Amino acid sequence: MTDTLNEHADPTLHKGEPLIQMTDVGKAYGAIRALSGINLSVGAGEVTCVLGDNGAGKSTLIKIMSGLHGHTEGTVKVDGQEVHFGSPREALDHGIATVYQDLAVVGLMEVWRNFFLGSEMAGGYPFAPMKVGHMREIADTELKKMGITVKDINQPIGTLSGGQRQCVAIARAVYFGARVLILDEPTAALGVKQSGVVLKYTAAARDAGLGVVFITHNPHHAYLVGNHFIILKLGKRVLDKKRSEVTLEELTAEMAGGRELAELSHELGQTVR
Ligand SMILES: Nc1ncnc2c1ncn2[C@@H]1O[C@H](COP(=O)(O)OP(=O)(O)OP(=O)(O)O)[C@@H](O)[C@H]1O
Ligand SMILES: [Mg+2]
Repeated sequence: MTDTLNEHADPTLHKGEPLIQMTDVGKAYGAIRALSGINLSVGAGEVTCVLGDNGAGKSTLIKIMSGLHGHTEGTVKVDGQEVHFGSPREALDHGIATVYQDLAVVGLMEVWRNFFLGSEMAGGYPFAPMKVGHMREIADTELKKMGITVKDINQPIGTLSGGQRQCVAIARAVYFGARVLILDEPTAALGVKQSGVVLKYTAAARDAGLGVVFITHNPHHAYLVGNHFIILKLGKRVLDKKRSEVTLEELTAEMAGGRELAELSHELGQTVR
């Protein structure tokens, strides 16, 4: 599986090399400060996990990386050059691809068409049909190589499982030469087995040299694939540790919010009889 992804890997990527660097990044939506003082680096061949509760600022952070929203404070550098993306297209041109939980695919479209969505091969100019046969073949081969068995490449992608859909989206990003892969809560809606498949492909993308940003609520999933962990709380970074500096227990305790849980347990203890 890893070999499959390696085939398309950018040979210029070196493990640990910083692809994205954020310094003191902040974002205000009018009067609301969604994010402030964020320092973070996304390294090639590494998974950077961003954890946090609802409203912590995770989506805001990846929206800045993926060009959907501009930052209002601090600097963002890609390959050492300062950037201020005006659109997702600009981020994509820098090799930054984002797989959204729900927006990754168009449910009623065929699997192969989703694979090429936005990157269709033109058959020539003018009015020549797209190279449909060729695209079907590539999508079919790529998915088979990844061990994703689709009965028919022409079936609507909505008929695949959530995990398979995530994998199609990851395969697509890697095939089209992404260097940074942002996964927004890829396992949030999945069962144990499907989460396992997505985590495997996340690790494969990492091993192919991509810089992966893995957003999740789940410290167990993060710890299975992560090299680096960042926890956000109310728009601020409350933990920033390399794998060697933190245990799963510490991560879980920090995510659960030890003190808040104790208070909650006290409150609940008074109501359950
Ligand atoms: N477009 C927006 N306009 C105004 N406020 C926003 C906007 N987007 C996010 N916010 C605010 O910014 C804060 C962080 O939101 P964000 O969506 O980044 O959190 P999150 O960590 O992704 O949460 P979740 O786990 O629920 O997805 C929240 O207080 C939210 O209300
Ligand atoms: Mg979010």
